[in-house]
Amino acid sequence: MKADQILKDSINLLKKKRNAIILAHVYQHGEIQDIADYVGDSLELSRKAVDTKASIIVFCGVQFMAETAAILNPDKRVLLPDKNAGCGLADMATDEQIIRVKDQNPDLAVVSYVNSSAKVKSVSDICCTSANAVNVVNSLSVNNILFVPDRNLGAYVAEHSNKNIHLWDGYCYVHEQIKSDDIKLLKRKYPAAQIIVHPECTTPVRHMADFTGSTSQMSKYVKQSRQKEFIVGTESNFVYRLKSDNPDKIFYPVNAICDGMNRITLEKVNTSLERMEQIVIIPETIREKSKIALDKMLFIL
Ligand code: 13P
Ligand code: SF4
Repeated sequence: MKADQILKDSINLLKKKRNAIILAHVYQHGEIQDIADYVGDSLELSRKAVDTKASIIVFCGVQFMAETAAILNPDKRVLLPDKNAGCGLADMATDEQIIRVKDQNPDLAVVSYVNSSAKVKSVSDICCTSANAVNVVNSLSVNNILFVPDRNLGAYVAEHSNKNIHLWDGYCYVHEQIKSDDIKLLKRKYPAAQIIVHPECTTPVRHMADFTGSTSQMSKYVKQSRQKEFIVGTESNFVYRLKSDNPDKIFYPVNAICDGMNRITLEKVNTSLERMEQIVIIPETIREKSKIALDKMLFIL
């Protein structure tokens, strides 16, 4: 479309002018993935945000991702093109709730999934993403762990570790709405297809899958697999990435749309760069404390 091309040209010019980099999560609309300097999962984007020499980071993702970039980079400006691009899961735990549980159970180590607020990270012992959650939990010397806020990822981690994991009662509405019956239906239609799902899916869905992993782990699995067809149990936009990287393979997505992720548009990216708007600001006391938990995570593969 002509209008899209004009916006893309304008974004590219502004990017140079401002010495900016665009980071996009794999759940972003295809046209956003196309203009990004780097597309990846939460963990890869956190690492990229630290490595970049750019002075401005335009984060095409949801609030907690842009906040993570801001926490790790006090010297850079982080822009979130739509300040209302939220993550329903991140809203399911507060720092006050966690402090209360910790006060009653002082031997618990708190592992917070990065899909959480900066305040929650600031009262956590260590953070994790879905790509390194098992390694993070297994790296801890303590046995009793409070895993917040995703009960589904927590259950997946519990299955892959010997630790005593206490689950928080949070969930991602996008993944929780993917039902075993949806997967069964697709499998009946495409019997040769392998099933790949994100660990934010419920345990019954996960147990039907041939492979469970973060978005980067699913990408790797598909690339290395000799299989040609895949049923994909995660946010629908991820299929755009899979198709771009594997043009010879066929993908059957379930219908799963993340409202927060889909709020980012070319127009908003352009406006945000033009006006330097929606700067992510984290109060310094919270930033310093949450950075400790994030830095510990980045140390683990
Ligand atoms: P990844 O860690 O796989 O990028 O997933 C992030 C996310 O929000 C999944 O819903
Ligand atoms: Fe949050 Fe779920 Fe959207 Fe991921 S898919 S950003 S966990 S609401």
